Amino acid sequence: MSDEGKLIVPSDLAKLEEVDGFAENWMNGMPFTKDQRDDIAISLSEVVTNAIEHGNAGIVDKMVTVVLLRIEGGIRIEVTDQGGGFNPALVADPTDPENLLSESGRGLLIVHHLMDEVDVEPVSTGTRISLVKRFTASNTG
Ligand SMILES: Nc1ncnc2c1ncn2[C@@H]1O[C@H](COP(=O)(O)OP(=O)(O)O)[C@@H](O)[C@H]1O
Ligand SMILES: [Mg+2]
Repeated sequence: MSDEGKLIVPSDLAKLEEVDGFAENWMNGMPFTKDQRDDIAISLSEVVTNAIEHGNAGIVDKMVTVVLLRIEGGIRIEVTDQGGGFNPALVADPTDPENLLSESGRGLLIVHHLMDEVDVEPVSTGTRISLVKRFTASNTG
């Protein structure tokens, strides 16, 4: 288990499996429960999908960088795309009655529920989404 992991992939949804495997491998030995590992896998998949489809607009030459960081009491995942960013406050509310039947627009909401912190920030190369997941107290050893 190294402290930092980094993977750069092109904007191809077929790379999701590689990203998932890379993160799973990196978390090996960390005191996360099975449920927490699933939360992280689902969230990472949603955020990388957004980076590819929305951030990089599916332009395969644009890259998605995934950095995995061990932090005090948990991990931070940083997903950076090469897009123009967005204002999370302006994203349509998927719980609004008029959006309830929509098949899209729930990814970020789910990620907010599954992770302890979600941040969106512009960086020089694009947009970075940071996700924090903490070990549960009884698990930290
Ligand atoms: N990396 C990103 N770059 C630009 N816009 C984004 C990014 N991630 C999310 N968004 C915006 O936030 C919206 C909500 O994302 P999400 O909840 O995953 O729904 P969906 O992907 O189904 O549209 C997207 O439709 C998009 O407008
Ligand atoms: Mg999405």
